[in-house]
Amino acid sequence: GPPWPLLWSISRVFLEYLEIPRLLERDLLRLKESSFSLVLPGKVVWVTGASSGIGEELSYQLAKIGSPLALSARRENELERVKKKCLEISSLSDKDILIVPLDLTNRSTHESATQSVLKHFGKIDILVNNGGRSQRSLFVDTSIDVYNAIMELNYLGTISLTKHVLDHMIQRKKGKIVTMNSVMGIMGAPLATGYCASKHALQGFFNSLRPEVAEYPEISIINLCPGPVQSQIIQNVFTEEVSKVNANIGDQSHKMPTDRCVRLGLVSMANDIKEAWISDNPYLAVCYLWQYAPTWAWWLLNRIGKTRIKNFKSGVDADVSYYKKSS
Ligand SMILES: NC(=O)c1ccc[n+]([C@@H]2O[C@H](COP(=O)([O-])OP(=O)(O)OC[C@H]3O[C@@H](n4cnc5c(N)ncnc54)[C@H](OP(=O)(O)O)[C@@H]3O)[C@@H](O)[C@H]2O)c1
Repeated sequence: GPPWPLLWSISRVFLEYLEIPRLLERDLLRLKESSFSLVLPGKVVWVTGASSGIGEELSYQLAKIGSPLALSARRENELERVKKKCLEISSLSDKDILIVPLDLTNRSTHESATQSVLKHFGKIDILVNNGGRSQRSLFVDTSIDVYNAIMELNYLGTISLTKHVLDHMIQRKKGKIVTMNSVMGIMGAPLATGYCASKHALQGFFNSLRPEVAEYPEISIINLCPGPVQSQIIQNVFTEEVSKVNANIGDQSHKMPTDRCVRLGLVSMANDIKEAWISDNPYLAVCYLWQYAPTWAWWLLNRIGKTRIKNFKSGVDADVSYYKKSS
């Protein structure tokens, strides 16, 4: 008989590729009109990784709509800069923005950090687990210490903070735990084995935590999965050794603008969308392929991966040169 599963996969991917991404964005923005500005103002939001990139922009957009903020990261001076700008662009007052210096890998400090936010604001409505670092190195060349460091930061650091904040949310029977995952939490990618593993771990963790807190209908677990977004992420990637910095930054201009990613993230957050893929094509299409026709996705990734690895080895920025070549 006809290969129905195969035909089903083909038509599904075709329909998804053609329509759903556009529908999704349209729907997200329509949802925004109805509830974005109603749900978030006045909510106390704790943002980790607020000193640069997506977390910084998120802080500005939340400040503008009037959400009191706790801002965390390791670099206090950068958090001061972000706070200053938040105050300039919003009607928030000095006491509405609390700086909480925090190293996600220093888990013994997470309880006292949580207490200091609670002491200041009396509640935490939304925790945005955003702090994290990516990776740019081949597994065969990379120290296992790097894998340990990535998991300590992206995975254990995130779930440790979540544990303290969730205790408080369970007492109140309400709150949102929002995690900046990635399309890399859904698919694989060469040169990012450890990063993908940490984001897959988060995906598995939060998808399993959600049913554990289902008895509290007002507690939501939200996974945001952006594709490539403009930020400092490439400057800060892990490489072959924990202390080795990335020398090859490349051109980031083809990536999604930070403000658009944050805007779509806020809409997802306001509407309790459990998993939002926030990405431009071709990355979004690869997500759909990965979901509905993984065998093809693996084949495709082997091909794309070859170019990426070749570029990386020859010292050209892996993503940008592939993007230029394919566009
Ligand atoms: N940009 C993308 O293409 C993209 C795509 C998908 C997902 N994401 C995710 O988005 C999140 C934000 O990344 P980004 O793109 O905005 O990169 P970024 O500009 O490098 O920002 C990373 C943030 O994480 C903080 N951070 C790093 N190590 C930390 C530690 N040990 N303890 C506490 N905070 C730490 C940094 O602050 P300090 O250095 O001051 O500590 C910084 O504020 C990450 O989870 C990333 O995986 C990014």
